[in-house]
Formats: sequence, C-alpha cells, structure tokens
Amino acid sequence: MRAIQIHSFGGPEVLQLDEVTPPLLEVGHVIVHTRAAGVNPIDWKTREGGGAASFSGGVPLILGWEMSGEIESVGTGISIFNPGDAVMGLLNFPQPGRCYAEQVNANAAHLVLKPKNLSFAEAAALPLAGLTAWQALYDHAHLQAGQRVVISAAAGGVGHLAVQIAKAAGAEVIAVASQANHDYLRQLGADAVIDYHSTELSDAVQDVDIILDGVGGLSAVQACRCLNHNGIMVTLPSATAQQVIDAASQTGHRVTGMRVVPNADQLQELADLAEQGKLRVEVAARFPFTEVAAAHQASQSGKTRGKIVLEF
Ligand SMILES: NC(=O)c1ccc[n+]([C@@H]2O[C@H](COP(=O)([O-])OP(=O)(O)OC[C@H]3O[C@@H](n4cnc5c(N)ncnc54)[C@H](OP(=O)(O)O)[C@@H]3O)[C@@H](O)[C@H]2O)c1
Repeated sequence: MRAIQIHSFGGPEVLQLDEVTPPLLEVGHVIVHTRAAGVNPIDWKTREGGGAASFSGGVPLILGWEMSGEIESVGTGISIFNPGDAVMGLLNFPQPGRCYAEQVNANAAHLVLKPKNLSFAEAAALPLAGLTAWQALYDHAHLQAGQRVVISAAAGGVGHLAVQIAKAAGAEVIAVASQANHDYLRQLGADAVIDYHSTELSDAVQDVDIILDGVGGLSAVQACRCLNHNGIMVTLPSATAQQVIDAASQTGHRVTGMRVVPNADQLQELADLAEQGKLRVEVAARFPFTEVAAAHQASQSGKTRGKIVLEF
C-alpha cells in the first residue's frame, strides 16, 4: 500500500510517499480502507520533532491520528463491526495512529460507525478535534447549562466544534476570533464574538466560568483575568501549558492542561449530535493525500476555519 512517511523530523519536505507493507490484522482490531484522514496541528508539530514525537518510537513514521473509511477485514473477538461498515475514529493517540496510509490497522475500541449524513471528509475531521472539545468542556471543566464559556481560536478545528457543543449544552458562548470569522461563529451559535486583534479579552468580558484556550502562552495568561472565583481554563497547546499554569497560580486562577484520548462512547455522542444536525463539521480544505506537504503548510498558517482533510 502507499503511505506518507517521514524518515527524519523536519519541514514539510520530509513528508514522503512510500510503498510500504500493509498492516497485519490483530486481535481486537480491524483493517480499514482509508477514505480520508484529518490534518491537525499535532501532525506538523510531530513532523518537526515536537508534539507527540516522543511517543513515536522514532522514524520511519506514518503520521496521522484520525481517519474515516470502510472496514476491509475484522479480527477475532470483534462482533460490533462487519466488512463494508463505514467508520471513523481517533486512533492510539498519543502513540502513532498511522492514518496517512491507504490501509489502517485500527483498534475497534477507538471506532464508531460514520454518521450517514457526514461525508468521509467530514467524518475524518471530527474525531480528534471533537473529542478534544468534548473532554475539555465535560471531563476537565465539568460544563453545565447556564455557564458563561469563552472559546479562543473559536473558528479553528477544536474551537468551531467547542462553540457548538457548549451551545448545545445550554451555555452562554463567547467566541474569540478574527473579524472575518464573526458571522460564521454567530451562525454556529456564539452569543457574542470578540476580535482579539482589537480587544483585550478581559476588558470585554468578566465573570467567566470556563475558558477553552486554543492559543496558549501570554494570551492564555492574560485571558485568565476573565475567570470568576470558581472558574477554570483548559489550555490546549501542551508546549505552553505549564507556563500558563504556573503564571495563573500566582494570581489565584485555576488552569489545567490536557491530552485528548481515544474514547468511542464520547465519539458516539458527537456522532449522534452530527446525525441530529446539531453539530456541523467544517472542512476548510481537502487535499489529495499525495499533496500532504501543502496540507501541512495550510494547517501551519494558523488561519484554518474548521479542518483540513487528506483524501485517499
Ligand atoms: N492538548 C490536546 O490534547 C490538544 C488537542 C487538540 C489540539 N490541541 C492544540 O490546540 C491548539 C488549537 O488546535 P486547533 O486544531 O483548533 O488549531 P487550528 O485549527 O489550527 O486553529 C486555527 C485558529 O487559530 C486561531 N488563531 C491563530 N492565532 C491566534 C491568536 N494569536 N489568537 C487567537 N486565535 C488565534 C485562528 O483564528 P482566526 O483565523 O479567527 O484569527 C484560526 O481560526 C493547537 O495548538 C493544537 O495543537 C491540543
């Protein structure tokens, strides 16, 4: 089969189209014929030697943690899936998911059936960002109806799903994004929008229960000033999480980092919301998988609305 591998860590030029041995079927696993794979910032951070590179076991490495496709064969012990089923999942994270490949060996416990109303591209874009938003809001921040929630990087992969998940939970949602994304975010359900280029968040909003921070660094440290006494920030970029936690502890603000984990029960909740038309998955751009370098460059621009997807 063909796969995108890296043989050294570095820039987009290290992404290489290789002919490799197809994966072998394991107990509890299925082989999926990949139709699409989501591209996330963790992909290019890992390609550069950061991100999840320390979990990779070195190079050569097939990147990619989320995909959609059709099941080709089913290992022993699997009764919930059959050959031909259309599925999607976040695989193995932070261990290698190896989704930039024509065939993927997937742990069945990381998969759910693809909602019929999502295309393969939309389905491949949902698992990593959707589970991140879900776990940040529910598992780490214990989101409840009526709470005031700020989502930064609100138009991005995680943010655009978090806006909708928080809104569906009955929260008041304040989305932080560039002006060009404000109408889009209001359509997704944001009650208010703030332009981070022209407005200091803490000047515009106070008494916040939850901040989902997709930016990190100094921006996150400053945003903590909006939190109320019981408020909590979940900061996503792992490279700056400890810095934000340490700075916030000096001003008495509660901040936690997190790492998304595969969870089929939660992914099923997201699939149900999508199937009911309550969760829209925005695919900003699709690239043939052979043009993966361009897809990484687009993700690395930091300007993505929704998600970038590779198609097989
Ligand atoms: N810890 C975990 O488990 C985990 C999981 C998933 C993601 N992450 C991390 O979370 C971050 C967000 O991920 P993502 O997939 O949502 O990224 P993304 O899709 O690349 O985010 C793009 C968005 O970021 C916004 N943005 C860029 N620079 C900004 C700034 N200085 N201030 C405010 N907004 C800014 C842009 O907004 P505008 O275009 O509106 O300006 C754009 O819409 C990444 O660092 C990612 O690695 C961590």
